Amino acid sequence: MQGGAPETRDTDLMEQIMTAADTITSLTIRRPDDLHLHLRDGAMLAAVVADTARHFGRAIVMPNLVPPVVTAADACAYRDRILDHLSDHKHFQPLMTLYLTETTDASDVVAAAEAGIIHAVKLYPAGATTNSASGVRDFDKVRSVLEAMAAIGLPLCVHGEVTDPSVDIFDREAVFIDRVLTPLRAAVPGLKVILEHVTTADGVDFVRDAGGNMAATITTHHLFINRNHILAGGIRPHYYCLPVAKRERHRLALVAAATSGAPQFFLGTDSAPHLDTDKQSACGCAGIYTAPNTLSCLAHVFEAESALHLLEGFTSVHGAAFYGLPPAQDRITLVKRDAPVTFPASRTTAHGEVTIFDCGEELYWEVEASL
Ligand code: NCD
Ligand code: ZN
Repeated sequence: MQGGAPETRDTDLMEQIMTAADTITSLTIRRPDDLHLHLRDGAMLAAVVADTARHFGRAIVMPNLVPPVVTAADACAYRDRILDHLSDHKHFQPLMTLYLTETTDASDVVAAAEAGIIHAVKLYPAGATTNSASGVRDFDKVRSVLEAMAAIGLPLCVHGEVTDPSVDIFDREAVFIDRVLTPLRAAVPGLKVILEHVTTADGVDFVRDAGGNMAATITTHHLFINRNHILAGGIRPHYYCLPVAKRERHRLALVAAATSGAPQFFLGTDSAPHLDTDKQSACGCAGIYTAPNTLSCLAHVFEAESALHLLEGFTSVHGAAFYGLPPAQDRITLVKRDAPVTFPASRTTAHGEVTIFDCGEELYWEVEASL
C-alpha cells in the first residue's frame, strides 16, 4: 500500500466485483447428472421420477429396493419399469447399479457392465441404512468381485458408515474410513471408489488426499443442515437422513469442497423419498426428498460462496468424467428471479404425501422450463 490512492482503487474494485455478482441473473450449464438417486418402485417411482428427469440428463439409480437389485436381470427389469414412466422425458437416462451381496457373482457383474446395463456397484455395510439388510458383513467374500470391477474400471459406490452398535452414530463415517475404506483401498488399489454422501471434514480430507481413483458425492441437504436442524427446538424428521448431518464445522467443510472446483467432488443428491407417515413416526425412517428443488438450492449455495462459475463442474462435469461418461451435450438455464421462488411443500403419491426438502432459506434461482 502506498498511501490513500491504492486503497481507493481496492474499494472500487471490490464494488465492481460485487456489482458484477449482483447482476448475474442467468446461468447456462451443461445438463446436470445426479450421481446418487433413489427412485423406488411402483407408486412412489411414478410420483417422483419426473422431478429428477425434468432437470437432469442422467442419474445413478440406487439398488436398495425390497428385495434389492442384485443381478443384471434385476437391473434390466428395474430400468424398464423406470423408462415406462418417462414418456414425457425421453432424454433422461437412468444408469443402473447392482447391490453388492456376499453371493454376488463377479461374471454377472462384468457381463452387465460390458453390456452397458450397469454403471456401478453399491456397497452397503449390512444394516447401515434403509433397506440394507442384504449388505456385506465379511469383506473377504466380495474381494473377487471388487478385483473384477477394478480390472474393467467399474466404480464401487460406498455407503461409508460402520454398523458396529458401539460406535457413536456421529462417528460412524470417520470410523468407516479407518476400519473399512483404508484397508479396502489397500487390498484393491486399482478400484475406483466413491464415498457416497460424504458428511464429515474427515471424509473430505481423505478423498482430497487419496489420489486419482477416489471421489465423493455430496448431497444438496448436507450443504444446508447440521445436526441442530434435526434436534434443536424439536425433533424434525424431514431433516433425518443417513449418514446423519454432523456439526456445523463439517457442513462448512462440505460447502468448501463442493464449491472448490476440485474434480473429486460431485453432486449425488441422495434424494430419497419416503411417505410422510413413515418418517413422522416413533421410529421414523431415514431419507430426504430433494429432487424438485435441488438445483435452486445449489445455485443459492454456490452464489453465496461467489462460486457460481464452479456450479457446472459440480453438477455436470466432474461426476461424468469420474464415471467415464461423455459430458452432456445439452444445456439448462438457471435464472435468478426478483422475488423468492416457491416450491410445493410435498408431492402426492397414490399412498400419501412426501415432504419436499425445505432448506430454510429464501431461494431466488430456478431452472427455466426447457422441456
Ligand atoms: C436412503 C434411502 O432412503 O434409501 N436413506 C438415506 O437416509 N439417505 C438410503 C441411503 O442412501 O443411505
Ligand atoms: Zn442414498
